[in-house]
Amino acid sequence: MTRSKIAFWVSVAALATSGCNNQPANEALTDTEKSAYLERGREIAATAFSVLSGNLAAALEKGGVANAVQYCNLAAMPLTDSLSRTNNAVIRRTSLKTRNPKNKPSEWERAALLSFEKEDQAGEELKPVVQLLDGQHVAFAAPIRVMSLCTKCHGKEGETMDAADARVIRSLYPDDQATGYAEGDLRGMWSIVFTLKE
Ligand code: HEC
Repeated sequence: MTRSKIAFWVSVAALATSGCNNQPANEALTDTEKSAYLERGREIAATAFSVLSGNLAAALEKGGVANAVQYCNLAAMPLTDSLSRTNNAVIRRTSLKTRNPKNKPSEWERAALLSFEKEDQAGEELKPVVQLLDGQHVAFAAPIRVMSLCTKCHGKEGETMDAADARVIRSLYPDDQATGYAEGDLRGMWSIVFTLKE
């Protein structure tokens, strides 16, 4: 082999190994793993959603917005703890426009939210997605849409939102960005991060 040929093969080998080193240890989910996580994510989100919206509706009926305002909070629901423990997962909701700054998106959540928003603007049907975050974590994301009930607290003041209710919410959440929505709008997403077992 000539010197230039050797140099060529050495650089090919170097490229190949550096390519490998850039891959995470567990480089992708198989189709079976993907559907399993999608299924689990959907079940968790559906369970949490039905309890949360049931509590909200009951509290609204009992004492209006001022009474119900504490019920749109996953972190405050005992069910969230038990779902998290059973599934070895962190369950939250996030949005590009948050009411509570604690719900602001992380980096991957923001990317997922932007991608849902783009698909929504293009009129596409939004579907839950899963991705491997790193060798230890799988992330599930599913869109959240605004229903009529939600517009009492996330809608337009003077239209679906009572002015006095809007004042109550503003006093509790001075950084509130989560108003102005109409029924059917994309409000945010479920974020579930599963920790893989060793
Ligand atoms: C009674 C008022 C009320 C109603 C009705 C309500 N919300 Fe909320 N929502 C809130 C409050 C207050 C928060 C902030 C909770 C917290 O402190 O984490 C919130 C937070 C959220 C968040 C988390 C992100 C953020 O903005 O902080 C999402 C997502 C959300 N609401 C969606 C909905 C949807 C969907 C509905 C209808 C099914 C709904 N909400 C109905 C008051 C309400």
